[in-house]
Amino acid sequence: MSAVSDRLPVFPWDKLEPFKATAAAHPGGIVDLSVGTPVDPVPQLIQKALVAAADSPGYPTVWGTPELRDALVAWCERRLGARDFTHRNVLPVVGSKELVAWLPVQLGLGPGDKVAYPRLAYPTYEVGARLARADHVAYDDPLELDPAGLKLLWLNSPSNPTGRVLSQQELTRIVAWAREHGILVFADECYLELGWEADPVSVLHPEVCGGSYEGIVAVHSLSKRSNLAGYRAAFLAGDSAVLGDLLQIRKHGGMMPSAPTQAAAVAALSDDTHVHEQRERYAARRQALRDALLGQGFRIEHSEAGLYLWATRDEPCWDTVAHLADLGILVTPGDFYGPAGNTFVRVALTVTDERVQAATHRLAPR
Ligand SMILES: Cc1ncc(COP(=O)(O)O)c(C=O)c1O
Repeated sequence: MSAVSDRLPVFPWDKLEPFKATAAAHPGGIVDLSVGTPVDPVPQLIQKALVAAADSPGYPTVWGTPELRDALVAWCERRLGARDFTHRNVLPVVGSKELVAWLPVQLGLGPGDKVAYPRLAYPTYEVGARLARADHVAYDDPLELDPAGLKLLWLNSPSNPTGRVLSQQELTRIVAWAREHGILVFADECYLELGWEADPVSVLHPEVCGGSYEGIVAVHSLSKRSNLAGYRAAFLAGDSAVLGDLLQIRKHGGMMPSAPTQAAAVAALSDDTHVHEQRERYAARRQALRDALLGQGFRIEHSEAGLYLWATRDEPCWDTVAHLADLGILVTPGDFYGPAGNTFVRVALTVTDERVQAATHRLAPR
């Protein structure tokens, strides 16, 4: 019997370790702009809700508390423009990474079924296909895909790593095409609240989906908008038939978010002030890092939304990684997201203001 791990690619982050050691040896300490992990505090109102729910001896439900489902429905209507949503249109999940990795298995996909995702993409879409032994295909434009055997189409707008945003017209065309061919669309929208030079639109917006959620599901996460990556809190929204099926499977599989996390998610989804404050922090860091990189001769593509700058010096990405590591700055090589990224690096905005200042100082022309 072959090990499941044999189906998976080499864990790419291990390859970055030597450069991390170089950057860490800088006298001013490392500025780690590689993994996009939130560093700012969990907002007080969310911490309070978590603590208030600490005495939770019973099993939580997979579908979530009625309060959580209410909060999810209200958020989708308020923030995404979804209309006539009900509890059957939402499903809380443990983090969205876990969902992405195990979705093809839970949808019953296998050999001969195809999973498609963007040419430059979050690597877990491919991992999910591999775990299910399904085929996988990377696309430049989903409308150019061969629909035969295609069962699951991943969209990711705003994109990790490029920060590219799909326009409302592009989304509308893709959803119509997928429906015509009976292909299920999962739209990973976990950076939707972080638009800078673009205002990202959800697939659930009536102008995209025509007010019907048939064949479309949006994936959302509280990790980025509310600094909750440590809690593991995400959710799905859209087609009630698909979500109903997933609910049944997940009940058997025991994939329920913890009760204190569910309570914390209610508080997080019911408040937009902390999201606005966090956005302001990222906007300032983005501006400073962007100016510093441009000053060093970098070119920045897309990056109109999300938590990253997609930057290049038109050289192999590992040369750029090495150059920046010598300055004590760690970034992610673009080829982690597909061979097409081999001349780019991904620069995360997730460090403190003090570390951003250290980076800009080191990048300043001398
Ligand atoms: C595109 C994309 N989807 C999903 C995730 C996973 O987020 P989480 O598991 O914290 O919800 C990430 C995290 O970086 C991401 O970039």
